[in-house]
Formats: sequence, C-alpha cells, structure tokens
Amino acid sequence: MSIIKENETLAIGCDHGGLELKNAIKEHLETRGIKVVDYGIYEQKSVDYPEIALKVCNAIVNKESTLGVLVCGTGIGMSLAANKVKGIRAAACSETFSAKYTRLHNDSQILCLGGRVVGVGLALEMVDLFVDTEFEGGRHQRRVDAVMDIEKI
Ligand code: RB5
Repeated sequence: MSIIKENETLAIGCDHGGLELKNAIKEHLETRGIKVVDYGIYEQKSVDYPEIALKVCNAIVNKESTLGVLVCGTGIGMSLAANKVKGIRAAACSETFSAKYTRLHNDSQILCLGGRVVGVGLALEMVDLFVDTEFEGGRHQRRVDAVMDIEKI
C-alpha cells in the first residue's frame, strides 16, 4: 500500500528524454488510485531539465506533494538539479533494490529515472516500491539528519 494518503499527491515531471516514461508512470499511479500532479512537459519538445526539477522540488518543499518522480534521459541530470534544492533528497535509480532502500534508509522524497536507461516494466516496479516503502527511521534518521546538516555549511 502506498504511503501517499488519500488526500495527498505525488508530483511528477520530465524533460524530452522522459516524456513517454513519465506518461506511463502517471497512468500507472492513477490506476492505483494515487493522485498525481503533472508539472510537464506535456508534449515532445526540448526543455532544460533543471526547470522541471525545480517545479517538482518546490511542490515537495512546500508540502503540496508527499513524494515526487522526475524523468530525464538518464535520471542523473534531474537528480543533480533536485539535490541542489534545500530539503530535497533525490535518488537516481535503475534497479529495484535501490528504489526501495532509498526510501527505507535515505527517506528520499524524489525518485529519478532515465527514460533512455530503463524500460517501462522495470520503471513501474521501481515506482511501486518507492511509493509503498516507509522510511525506517532509527539510526537512519541520524544519518539523514547529518546529510541535511551539510546544507548549513
Ligand atoms: C537531454 O538530452 C539529456 O541530457 C537529459 O535528459 C538528461 O539525461 C540529463 O541528465
């Protein structure tokens, strides 16, 4: 079951390298009954990924959405941009173990995927694990706090 409650949403966004996968993820999550806020892009056109990453990050930081998914060609550009935003923990993943453990141990709010790296089937499995996994807390809370303290330096 998703950690996103009935009155909460997931924010999603992509660049031109991730449009098809973003649309497939959105459709999949909506089929699961999860409300998705789509920050674009909505049609195949060239766009700079930091612009979209910032929109999704703002939705998380402002608590408008609980979790987010960002898709670019590799997932890397989106994760680099997202992790520059204060308060954000974004993980670029290309297999299921990391997609699960970045929730469990890192309390990441954003999953970044590469539309040119992973197929739809694997991506949907990763998304399901990401939205279904609660942060474990405990010793991992101390480590996450230490990560976030780096922002204050
Ligand atoms: C765009 O061509 C591509 O560079 C972008 O989608 C992403 O992969 C960047 O990391």
